[in-house]
Amino acid sequence: MPKHEVVVVGAGLAGQRAALAAVEAGKDVALISKLHPLRSHSGAAQGGINAAVGAEDSVETHIYDTVKGSDYLGDQDAIEFFCQRAGPTVIEMEHFGTVFSRADDGSLARRAFGGGAFPRTIYAADRTGLALLQALWERLGTEDFTLYEEWDVTNFVVREGRVQGLVGFDRRRGTFDEIAAPAVVVATGPFGRIYGRTTNAHSCTGDGTAAAYAAGAQLKDLEFVQFHPTALLESGILITEGARGEGGILKNAQGERFMARYAPHVLELASRDVVSRAIVTEVAQGRGFTGPYGGYVHLELMHLGRERVESRLQEIVDFSRHFAGIDPVTQPIPVYPAQHYMMGGIGTTIQGATNIPGLFAAGEAACVSIHGANRLGGNSLLETLVFGKEAGAAAAAYVDRAPAPAMRETDLEAATGPIRIWSARTEGEDPSALRAEMQAVMERYVGIYRNEADLLEGLKRIRALKKRFQFVRVVDRSSVYNLNVSDAVETGHMLELAEVIVVGAYARTESRGAHSRTDYPKRDDAHWMKHTIATRTPNGPALTYAPVAYTRWEPKERVY
Ligand code: FUM
Repeated sequence: MPKHEVVVVGAGLAGQRAALAAVEAGKDVALISKLHPLRSHSGAAQGGINAAVGAEDSVETHIYDTVKGSDYLGDQDAIEFFCQRAGPTVIEMEHFGTVFSRADDGSLARRAFGGGAFPRTIYAADRTGLALLQALWERLGTEDFTLYEEWDVTNFVVREGRVQGLVGFDRRRGTFDEIAAPAVVVATGPFGRIYGRTTNAHSCTGDGTAAAYAAGAQLKDLEFVQFHPTALLESGILITEGARGEGGILKNAQGERFMARYAPHVLELASRDVVSRAIVTEVAQGRGFTGPYGGYVHLELMHLGRERVESRLQEIVDFSRHFAGIDPVTQPIPVYPAQHYMMGGIGTTIQGATNIPGLFAAGEAACVSIHGANRLGGNSLLETLVFGKEAGAAAAAYVDRAPAPAMRETDLEAATGPIRIWSARTEGEDPSALRAEMQAVMERYVGIYRNEADLLEGLKRIRALKKRFQFVRVVDRSSVYNLNVSDAVETGHMLELAEVIVVGAYARTESRGAHSRTDYPKRDDAHWMKHTIATRTPNGPALTYAPVAYTRWEPKERVY
């Protein structure tokens, strides 16, 4: 059985940065990924990375904007730590070779993003995630580590109160294997594929988060799901907030710049939860456009001119032309919100430690919590790098005091038992069909606007799907690239996480950030200024609550 000192699961920006920190600390590191690392979902991040480097801006303002953006649910000690590291992180990535866009004077170009008091989002055209990912991969490539590619992690092994290693499915060989490690960093990113309309890649199924939850890790604030206001109609492809940062405007079918009704001061550059709700409201009240893919509004870039649109928003131009058949230089882009980001995740300390010794988490899989109830655009890429580095360094330090891992041959047997049953069945449930039904349920009952009746119905349906999943069947007998096995494993993972989202959303009888309850339209600090903590039990998630960390900012009404 292979053994490593630190195993990082997930090779996007958070995972790679964690691996680099652990390698630099002198550890034997393995990096496990479902995909080639350069195809990780971090590469889909378009608009940029926040750092207060402008003369008019300050770290203090970045902290305040993030606290306010979180609707005061973000932990202020973590937010301070995070924003203080923004400038050095961007400079480090530039030294690693990231080619950021430049202003005319040669300084780092910055664009405005929602919820920011100043233009603070540093970018590489509209391919910022990809530019960072390529530079970090090249930097990591100069170090010695082991890469397990095309691997689905199915289970973490926890015994004697700590992590011992993991079990995964090697897609290329079709085998299940164990890896022993005293420290494991989960960096498997989001699980937006729980929803039908999402900007997330097909790989975003929350495998690490679900496996950690199954192993006893506490999940925090999962009910806070971010919907990006501007996803391309039909496909759900992200149309970066950078398009509005460059001056793009939103119009309804009556030609009105409707954001004046919802955020009179900053219009399209209000925070994402505000803009998403505005679009949904416009469409619901009959002021949107209608078409075969449902209601939508227009994002107009035409007034910006060809040169600016084609140079700053190259991907947006390509996506619009190829996936919507329109040219954004001369035509409006049809947009509607789509699931984009999970504010919640595996609860961690600032250094990435979870409630299970030896298990660390970083990036979107984790909840530190800096985003609270709503994340600001541009803070996600920064989060991956700041907290990936912390988690990798902390995992490496933990190895020095951890006992040797004690994996057993029976761990593999135990982990793969259910999968053998799925494959032996001659009849049963199709995992793809269950996945599609789950996505429809989450869209319909656990979307941008929520209420008690919908959430109860959603929970009933998700639990019914979980029951049916017990009879899931894998029909494909191939030994290489058996994606039917992966599909079944991923669907099981997502159903568990979907249940946590609904249970948390049902329990939280207030509206805060991205969690908007029509039956409880106000934020209720007296009862709900607290984090939701979900622990797995045989009967579903058990909820407890934890206090929010305050340093200097008193909760206020959030107005944009
Ligand atoms: O709109 C965007 O480019 C997304 C950025 C983000 O989620 O941080």
